[in-house]
Amino acid sequence: LRLYKESDEGIEAAAAAIKGGELAIIPTETVYGLAAKALDPDAVAKIFTAKGRPAENPLIVHIADPGDLEQVAASVPDGARRLISAYWPGPLTLVLTKTPLVPFRVTAGLDTVAVRCPAQPVARRVIELAGVPVAAPSANRFMEVSPTRVEHLDPELMEQAAVVLDSGPCEVGLESTIVDFTVNPPAILRPGGISRDQLERVLGAKLQITSEHRKAPGQYARHYSPKAKVRLVQSADPDAAALVFNKHGSRHFEMSSDPEQYGRDLYDALIQLDKSGADEIQIEIPPRTVEWEAVRDRIEKAAG
Ligand code: TXA
Ligand code: MG
Repeated sequence: LRLYKESDEGIEAAAAAIKGGELAIIPTETVYGLAAKALDPDAVAKIFTAKGRPAENPLIVHIADPGDLEQVAASVPDGARRLISAYWPGPLTLVLTKTPLVPFRVTAGLDTVAVRCPAQPVARRVIELAGVPVAAPSANRFMEVSPTRVEHLDPELMEQAAVVLDSGPCEVGLESTIVDFTVNPPAILRPGGISRDQLERVLGAKLQITSEHRKAPGQYARHYSPKAKVRLVQSADPDAAALVFNKHGSRHFEMSSDPEQYGRDLYDALIQLDKSGADEIQIEIPPRTVEWEAVRDRIEKAAG
């Protein structure tokens, strides 16, 4: 394992590792990703082994440039094109029909592929230098909290990677929004970095909610979970370890009332409370408005 701070040397090392069929942990604007060459089933298999991830949970393919989409997606509906013009590069993943180039290992046997063009400049340069589409799930063990800083990485998972590239804290802090364009109307499979409002504004139409059409692969009721038991509450107990809006206890983490800032801090706060040895974490429920959709999704899943 070689650990690099953000640098040309680090970017080249990560790209070379991916090109050579090894794993690299790289920054993105959402969360750190465990990256491998997407077109090589053996390289992709290493991701599943390292994470302890079930084979039926498909991976997201990352491209350096929106123009590379045709390599992996067989057809791109109009709506998808409009979202791409508006939000790529960025925290938006589109599910499209795959080309034969994409191995079924990546898509968990599906004829569809999830694709994203990340905005984080280091991520883009790594993918560009690797010269191939890159499969990358969040760089955490299955079910656990996604890392938004290198300090969050599980040491055993790190050991499975040839290179770890540290680019500081992730700017968005929550995973990308996933929109499925293989159903009509298109559906949000996972709320994330781009809000429902932002998407619907560009599409000029309403999006479906996942549960209305079918169960999305790789979406579990419990996910993004710290080791401590998570309980959602209206107002946290003063003596509890908790994420709150107004601190009223010594083990309280005061979170922002701005949903974007809250999203940026959420995983770091959960990981810190876990490290403090708390066996229960209380989380005060954020407002039931659309801006809070992604944060609410993650804390509901953390609670199982
Ligand atoms: O922000 C992100 O998207 C991060 C960074 C690293 O890019 N990646 C990420 O990947 O969150 P991961 O593996 O944690 O989440 C991938 C999820 C799957 O669990 C599944 O829900 C969905 O993407 N997915 C992938 N391929 C799919 C497909 N063909 N059809 C439907 N959903 C798919
Ligand atoms: Mg994940």
